[in-house]
Amino acid sequence: MHHAEASNFASGLTKKDVYAQVVEHSRGLFDGQRNWRQNLSSNLSNASSLIYHALHSLPSPSSAVNWCGFYVLDPTTPSQLLLGPFQGHVACQTIGFGRGVCGTAASAQTTQLVKDVEAFPGHIACDAASKSEIVVPIIQKGKVVAIIDIDCAELNGFDEDDKEALETIAALLAESCDF
Ligand code: SME
Repeated sequence: MHHAEASNFASGLTKKDVYAQVVEHSRGLFDGQRNWRQNLSSNLSNASSLIYHALHSLPSPSSAVNWCGFYVLDPTTPSQLLLGPFQGHVACQTIGFGRGVCGTAASAQTTQLVKDVEAFPGHIACDAASKSEIVVPIIQKGKVVAIIDIDCAELNGFDEDDKEALETIAALLAESCDF
């Protein structure tokens, strides 16, 4: 199989099916790719592509995902997240712990499922098109090392199925990558 085919998702599959395909292809792509930094960005780049295309293969609202990527712990500044690999438009580069949806997920160490970003106090609007968002922390040895951030141009873009699958993917990344 050509690498690019890993991010082809058949239409008509359920959300659970496409996420299962993301996990399966992620395992294959991450295998033997755990060296620090360089392979970390390779793995996160491929993961953002897989998740983005998986969601775009689904009907609305998943198909309206307009940003999908990672913020990683900034090695130079304590309690700060730094923009990592992503799919979508240019985004803000640094986010402090406790700030916005991403910083809240990082400091609380819990998934933030935001059905309407306007209703989330302190939400950071990188793109006015984003209406809903999910942020899932990636935790290694009890410490947040990165977060998965996905934005949707529709309200209520994410549900418990997204949360469950993305938490599985976050756990896979935590065990597959040296952050
Ligand atoms: N909305 C996020 C900022 C990052 S962008 O969505 C890519 C937040 O409130 O933390």
